[in-house]
Amino acid sequence: MSRIDSLLSRMTLEEKVGQLNLVSAGQTVTGPSGAEDVAAGVRAGDIGGVFNVWGADAVAALQKIAVEETRLGIPLVFGLDVLHGHATTFPIPLAEAGSFDPGLWERTARAAAREAARDGIDLTFAPMLDVARDPRWGRIAEGPGEDPLVGERFARAKVRGFQGGDPSSTDAMGATAKHFCAGGAAQAGRDYAAVDLSERILREIYLPPFRAAVEEGCVAVMAAFNSVAGVPMAANVRLLRDCLRREFGFDGVIMSDYAAVAELVAHGVAADLCDAAALALKAGVDMDMAGGAYLQGLPAALAAGRIGEADIDVAVRRVLALKEKLGIFDDPYRRVGRRERNAGDQRDLALEAARRCIVLLENRGALPLSRNLRRIAVVGPLADAQDEMPGPWSGAARVGRCATVLDGLRAATDAEIVHHAGCAIEGGERGGIAEAVEMCRSVDAVILCLGESAGMSGEAASRASPGLPGLQGELAEAVLAAGVATITILFSGRPLVVPRLAERSSALIAAWFLGDEAGTALADVLAGRFNPVARLAATWPRDIGQAPVYYGALACGRPPSADDPFTSRYLDAPTDPLFAFGHGLSFARTRLSNLRASAGTFHIGAPVALDLLVDIMNEGNVATQETTFLFMRDLVASVVRPVLELKDWAKTDLEPMETKTVRFALAPDTFALPGAGFVPTIEPGEFELFVGPNAERTRLLSIRVRALPAPPLS
Ligand code: GLC
Repeated sequence: MSRIDSLLSRMTLEEKVGQLNLVSAGQTVTGPSGAEDVAAGVRAGDIGGVFNVWGADAVAALQKIAVEETRLGIPLVFGLDVLHGHATTFPIPLAEAGSFDPGLWERTARAAAREAARDGIDLTFAPMLDVARDPRWGRIAEGPGEDPLVGERFARAKVRGFQGGDPSSTDAMGATAKHFCAGGAAQAGRDYAAVDLSERILREIYLPPFRAAVEEGCVAVMAAFNSVAGVPMAANVRLLRDCLRREFGFDGVIMSDYAAVAELVAHGVAADLCDAAALALKAGVDMDMAGGAYLQGLPAALAAGRIGEADIDVAVRRVLALKEKLGIFDDPYRRVGRRERNAGDQRDLALEAARRCIVLLENRGALPLSRNLRRIAVVGPLADAQDEMPGPWSGAARVGRCATVLDGLRAATDAEIVHHAGCAIEGGERGGIAEAVEMCRSVDAVILCLGESAGMSGEAASRASPGLPGLQGELAEAVLAAGVATITILFSGRPLVVPRLAERSSALIAAWFLGDEAGTALADVLAGRFNPVARLAATWPRDIGQAPVYYGALACGRPPSADDPFTSRYLDAPTDPLFAFGHGLSFARTRLSNLRASAGTFHIGAPVALDLLVDIMNEGNVATQETTFLFMRDLVASVVRPVLELKDWAKTDLEPMETKTVRFALAPDTFALPGAGFVPTIEPGEFELFVGPNAERTRLLSIRVRALPAPPLS
């Protein structure tokens, strides 16, 4: 008999229900709930897992109670939101996605796992894989941006990085793919709001990153708060049981999000906790996070005959199997016992990652900064904002470690640096604006640091008007009016709607929240010591009225045309974004040419479709790394197709004046669409393939190829 079978056979109903209860220890607060006496709950056998606690001593103390003071001594599993670093913070996921570098994505996850495991964390509630196309939604900061292919590759890299080759090893932790699914499509960009999508869009856009995470072996999945097509995810049998478990083959633990089981009552699909607990258990939710719904509701549901003890056993078995997979049964102190183990200093990686996530949006000859500058003003509320640099979801970050822009510039240049905040990030009074402007009149250049606080993105941080908060717009106008070359750096967890600033700044940088080494990395770019290579993983709107905004919109009968009023356009704004998906400048200048395909046709069913080749030249005088995107459009299909679909990207290192050929090997499934029954199907007909530096149509080279019916069997 296996260890799990043996345990299960000895467990009382109360002990079984206790294993399904995941509670917050409150070292950081990530949801609405009163603090509870976790130690007492563990001692009573009412708790199977604890999150929001870290540090060897605190974790070991709770584990000791579970192991030594409960009847069966079943150890706890410890979880935490480790999304972009633990003690050392890396760029927020939306920024890191913009590096388009799966190797980097994996390395930062590996480094985070080492640090978090040393602090006793067995399971991270990451990667967050919500595709997001609406900058009003604050959680766009936490995920891979707008594109499902980026999401898939991000999912694989992060699961590999967090779990290492073996999630039970002492420097690894389990990965939880979250939030299943589609929270990024919340109504009006408002967190937790209902989601209503067609099955096709769900399958083409929102599900692929989760399938990829399951294929990569993630040990857990977190169900989302929101409903999809009228069914809250915590009770969604079709998506949890039929899709995630049966179709994707996921047999790990599904946990609810924070109190989401209890919130089935607020959704209006459950009358009480008994009802809610029965619905969630039947849908396949194994652990109830922070809501107490299982602890209070499952015994009642059992007594009422809504569920059987066998249903509870299925969930308990999965939770015990998770603990076994993470090595917790073999050694409950495995991750905290190795105190001599050093997680290594991650600062070098933090600097590399920060540099590679900085997006140069505009540059009107102002960058790199001239070495002749004698006096530089660093202005704005984000210039010296050390605590904001880690961004959202950085609960375990070591405070006081982050390098700010002011720190970085002072260390990087001989010029005299003067500084004035000008105004607060939000609220405050306008007195400092005049002082800041006065200071700007006597310098050679201004570095204007504006944007959001770390708390203005992430969870429960939707913004109806995601522009510059507070008085920052006034500060920007006043500084720009002073007429001194002004390089604006934007710190945010989302694309900010700042069309005038983009137009009038001498250069514009998206700095997101870059973590520990933010200031040093930005100074390296400003001073030209690092050539910016990052791109936008989410479209940057000109006007929030364009949201949801993304490059892969479905075609329509009257595509936008500025020349024809009877087309899909606005009277009061352009339809094109301020910056396209994939946009990002460097200090080099590259050119694509000579796009060609290894064949003009291929047979459906052939093992290999074809190769696409394009030449890329660096016409600049600095070395660079160019990201080249491959998009596709299915020109005639049985259903309306997106005007562009991302099918691959390539990164090419180029010395000055160097030319290389980029090759895309196109597998046949590149051309597939979800056909009848959403089975991947290649339909005969013409496809247009596009290659370019971003999703802006005017920057793309294109070529057509044709899919021919499979040849008759000879
Ligand atoms: C929060 C978030 C989720 C997080 C969980 C635990 O409500 O929605 O992403 O993992 O609670 O902190």
